[in-house]
Amino acid sequence: MQLEMRNLVSGAVGAVAMTALLGGASVASAQTAPTFTKDVAPIFQAKCEACHRPESIAPMSLQTWQQARPWARSIKARVSDHSMPPFQIDRTVGVTKFKNDDSLSAAELETIVKWVDAGAPQGSAKDMPPAIEWPAEQGWNFAKTFGQTEPDMIVKSDSFTMPAVAQDAWDKRVTPIELTEPRWVRAIEIRPSNIKGRKVIHHAIAYLEQTEPGADAADGPAPLFMEWAVGKQGEMMRPDTGKLLMPGARFRWDIHYSQAGEEITSNVEMGIYFYPKGQEPKYRTRLSFVPAAVGNLDLRPNTVTTTEGFFPLRDNARIESYQPHMHLRGKAMMVEAILPSGQRRVLSHTSDFNFMWMTTFVYADDVAPLLPKGTLLKVTAWHDNTSAKKTNPDPNQWVGWGDRTVDEMAHAWINIVYMNDADFKAEQEKRKAATATSQER
Ligand code: HEC
Repeated sequence: MQLEMRNLVSGAVGAVAMTALLGGASVASAQTAPTFTKDVAPIFQAKCEACHRPESIAPMSLQTWQQARPWARSIKARVSDHSMPPFQIDRTVGVTKFKNDDSLSAAELETIVKWVDAGAPQGSAKDMPPAIEWPAEQGWNFAKTFGQTEPDMIVKSDSFTMPAVAQDAWDKRVTPIELTEPRWVRAIEIRPSNIKGRKVIHHAIAYLEQTEPGADAADGPAPLFMEWAVGKQGEMMRPDTGKLLMPGARFRWDIHYSQAGEEITSNVEMGIYFYPKGQEPKYRTRLSFVPAAVGNLDLRPNTVTTTEGFFPLRDNARIESYQPHMHLRGKAMMVEAILPSGQRRVLSHTSDFNFMWMTTFVYADDVAPLLPKGTLLKVTAWHDNTSAKKTNPDPNQWVGWGDRTVDEMAHAWINIVYMNDADFKAEQEKRKAATATSQER
């Protein structure tokens, strides 16, 4: 694969050299073409190296020109179809501004494409930015922010040994925590316990299992507490919002391990930061399970199937984040709001779902949807049980609802903050004022 790629690229370089010889105009455009050292390396450092470096999950490193050049064509293809860096959201509809968006800007994308089209030139060595020093030891990212050296609580999953060659594994064991009183959480981060773990731990989800007073069945089963994938820092709650952790709580993990060609033993550590004792955030973030289908799916062979579900908001709400959840045949998911007025509004659409990437899309502060009481959320899911879906293991099988990856699911995890009328109105006014100022500019 790698060799083939190299031949293709050197062929492209040859073609550029030929045209350069034949016409003066091409010489000029070759000179202005982006180079790796000057234009592309800074982008790769910022947007790709978290995964594309020796001790991480991606199949190849992109730290040097020598490493990147053989992949030039594939790089162009994968940035152009927006599958790299992974952030699968359709930007032509709904909310398009996110807090955790590390995808390429339009200008960055254009630079990479132009660089590949010009034959992926190296450029001058003096333009190369200094290499990023990825820490050999892992720190806790948020500790400094709160003036601490460590999180207030560290919860560790049981250790797991991934053989050198094996099928993907999901570790779903449970870890109890020790807490004597309810505490409000203001930030969470997850990391593999050792650097090697980054090679095998693809993503980790922590579900929170606890009984609490005033729980609402509508909030669904075992809410998601935190989701982590390589390259992610953690999750800081919006100001004055938090998650509640109760004594007796336990975490149920869902950690996806994949082979790395060597045996690696690792586990996941979750760092939790609390609000100071006695300080209660005004708003509570609740993670809701919003299904298009639950318990019953009928995915016939060689067929695309659509399912839909509705979720009434029990009060005025701000929608904090959205995460689609399907398995290998998941194709697309859309979340819409049907307002009490009857108007419909698309909040988010994932048009190219990829099971590999479990991304939570966290809406930016100034655009997180504000929806009045009585709004219905509508979730639509599309499953593609045909050979057109690349990850489909067998389009000739009937598939139903279930836990295994070869079964299917169809729901969104949606973080919701409920508000009373006065607070909701104040939020709306704040939003209006901000929009007015930005339009005057
Ligand atoms: C969050 C981690 C992550 C980030 C960030 C990331 N990648 Fe990847 N990339 C991967 C993984 C894992 C794979 C292998 C699985 C796949 O192909 O989807 C991959 C695959 C690829 C491939 C396909 C390789 C092949 O086999 O043909 C290309 C090309 C690529 N990435 C380029 C990039 C570029 C360019 C960037 C930055 C602009 C980037 N990636 C950012 C994790 C990442």
